[in-house]
Amino acid sequence: MSRVSEIMESMEYGPSVEDSSAVRDWLRDRGPFGHFIGGSFTRPGDSFTTRDPATGEALAQIAQGTEQDVAEAVKAARKAQNRWAKLSCSERARYLYAIARHVQKRERFLSVLETLDNGKPIRESRDIDVPLVARHFYHHAGWAELRDDEFPGHAPLGVCGQIIPWNFPLLMLAWKIAPALAAGNTVVLKPAEYTPLTALAFAEICRQVGLPEGVVNIVTGDGATGAALVRAQPDKIAFTGSTQVGRGIAATLAGTGTKLTLELGGKSPFVIMDDADLDAAVEGVVDSIWFNQGQVCCAGSRILVAEAVTSRFESLLRARMDRLRVGAPLDKSTDIGAIVDPVQKDRILSICAAATAAGAELVGGQAGEGCFIAPGYLRNIAPANPGMVQEIFGPIATLSTFRTADEAVELANNTRYGLAGSVWSESAAVATDIAARIKAGVVWINGANMFDAAAPFGGYRESGFGREGGRTGMRDYLAEPPVKPAKDTAPTPPVLMAEGEGKGGGIDRTMKLYLGGAQKRPDGGAMYTVPGGLAPLGNRKDIRNAVEAAAKAGKWAAMGGDGRAQVLYYIAENLAARADDFAARTSRAEADAAIARAFHYAARADKFDGANVQTRPGHLVNVIPEPYGVMAITCPNRQPLAAFMSLVMPAIAMGNSVVAIASQDDPLVLADLYQVFDTSDLPGGVVNIVTGATAELAPVAAAHDGVAAMWHVGGGEGLERVERAAGGNLKPVWSPVNRDWTGPDAQGAAFLHHAVQWKTVWLPYGA
Ligand code: NAI
Repeated sequence: MSRVSEIMESMEYGPSVEDSSAVRDWLRDRGPFGHFIGGSFTRPGDSFTTRDPATGEALAQIAQGTEQDVAEAVKAARKAQNRWAKLSCSERARYLYAIARHVQKRERFLSVLETLDNGKPIRESRDIDVPLVARHFYHHAGWAELRDDEFPGHAPLGVCGQIIPWNFPLLMLAWKIAPALAAGNTVVLKPAEYTPLTALAFAEICRQVGLPEGVVNIVTGDGATGAALVRAQPDKIAFTGSTQVGRGIAATLAGTGTKLTLELGGKSPFVIMDDADLDAAVEGVVDSIWFNQGQVCCAGSRILVAEAVTSRFESLLRARMDRLRVGAPLDKSTDIGAIVDPVQKDRILSICAAATAAGAELVGGQAGEGCFIAPGYLRNIAPANPGMVQEIFGPIATLSTFRTADEAVELANNTRYGLAGSVWSESAAVATDIAARIKAGVVWINGANMFDAAAPFGGYRESGFGREGGRTGMRDYLAEPPVKPAKDTAPTPPVLMAEGEGKGGGIDRTMKLYLGGAQKRPDGGAMYTVPGGLAPLGNRKDIRNAVEAAAKAGKWAAMGGDGRAQVLYYIAENLAARADDFAARTSRAEADAAIARAFHYAARADKFDGANVQTRPGHLVNVIPEPYGVMAITCPNRQPLAAFMSLVMPAIAMGNSVVAIASQDDPLVLADLYQVFDTSDLPGGVVNIVTGATAELAPVAAAHDGVAAMWHVGGGEGLERVERAAGGNLKPVWSPVNRDWTGPDAQGAAFLHHAVQWKTVWLPYGA
């Protein structure tokens, strides 16, 4: 018998296992499970077993969705969509509210079910996952109610296909289904094969609240079922999972017009400055990489610690790590539960083995019997070590050191991902400075893994695009107000002409490329004839040079909206002074539109605000629009001046630098813009202009890793090639409808939305 003082010393608890009998009864009564299509469960055909990863025990038989099942689910969703969209906003809101209430009523049941199927500690499913699920439906009941007030003119997309992973099964379902329904869409959701059970319990909730048949459909199965859902081409695919699968989905959907959002992997930095509260930072690590067994896309998996405090931090960390309890997930005192499946356990161990083989030292991280791995971290690890580069997706962090703030930022951003980051410092100035410089969609200051339905979540760079949560997340489930399309003219194949040739024969002018603020001859030296003169026939090298020039224009973003507004006003003024020249070269309408765009985006440059969103008390949560960096823009063939200005001005107003591929047939008027830019204090490299064959140049720009986002006017094969090429580094592609670029539809906030990525910065305050 231990004495109380010994117990206090060892902190040993007896087991305190959550009762799972109600869940087991449900599994026995309800299984084997079919799909949930059109409001009822299908008879299961081919099926697979879902297991409790902690014990290996079979929990239920689950239907393996076929192409036919997916087609039926999409059909049911399509059939339901019209009626669902015709309900009033308030009616839809009430359903979402009822779902939230039911989730709350079944909180304990859902937590136990989640823990059994996934292996996560009951403490986490009970205190984090399920409450957040309810919060998500409440929050989106509000968006459903307010949709038409807050998003005037917007419409639902239609049927949304949603594919989710196994690390937060019910929470990811809520992140996907709540905004989709609030916007007026219907859904077909495919849960992950390891963890389908809470989605099926959710289907029952849909029935209990009387959700109209077909509004939510759930098809279970593995990656093949997911792939079938993508091939079925609903109006949108929303995917959360591995970068590799996300890239494949982007390739499959290239050119189809299906809207896509991707939330992919991460290797997020966890930066500890020398003035950090180290005890708090250690708790941050526990909440970050040792939360959910490290199977968290935004886990702070790369600990970067100031050299001056490394040894103190490490000793605190080891002491804390040694006290974490690995064990039965249903036990309320368990900190670290089971890895979701033996496949994932092997994957984690193999990355750790590769990391140690490459010279890193593993502290802790022992593999236990079954699906258990103790918490650990890799130290003495080189930047190129596989453990440093690959997403381990297990309870193993890396630990490395830095000397200066600049070095910390450089290391933090030394990854192809950009999902999240954590910064620890007692100085607000230091913490906010580092937070601003981390390239990631979410940054937590003195905290980690904080989530809320009002706080947008999503990635930069290869962590994907699109946001979930809040206003921005809602936008991703809505179609923008329609614009009147206008046909573009097909470009004529370039007719080559040697420079000088034809001079005096109607060739008035010879244009150059505009790169880095200077006029440059094209790399290949070739020119082609255009009305009124010769234009350079740009090639892939010219695009590369343009991207390089654009990348050097980083100071443009740092000027801030006010500084940029002044330059844009100056451009507007200089354009206005030469309005007659531009009108003579194009048309009065185009010249007027060009001037109007410069004035309009000058006005907007410092007014496209982010928000301070309400999450939980004591948290300042800022949602900030940030420029992508380098954007590539393919201009249409007609209305060369008005279209160029309509597209380029909003992009630069937000702080991006641009590689513009000009109208193929009629670019000459842009040569006059060069002088306007030069005399308006526009820094060199902010706007770069390449002329030539659009069909060749656009995919080169889309494929370039230095380009972070692409706008491409024009559909068809050209768009397909661009979208395929853009899949390499997973850049978002926006394809604005070709329109009358002199008209009112050619300017406004919609353009700015596509010119920024949202960063959510969490700053807890108070004692
Ligand atoms: P995965 O990306 O294969 O699975 C995620 C979801 O996608 C599942 O529902 C799966 O059935 C589905 N899926 C698989 N192949 C598909 C395809 N070709 N088309 C459509 N859907 C498909 O991830 P997996 O294999 O379970 O885990 C592998 C690694 O991925 C993990 O070790 C981790 O690094 C990363 N991962 C990242 C997640 C995140 O939240 N960002 C979540 C899960 C995994």
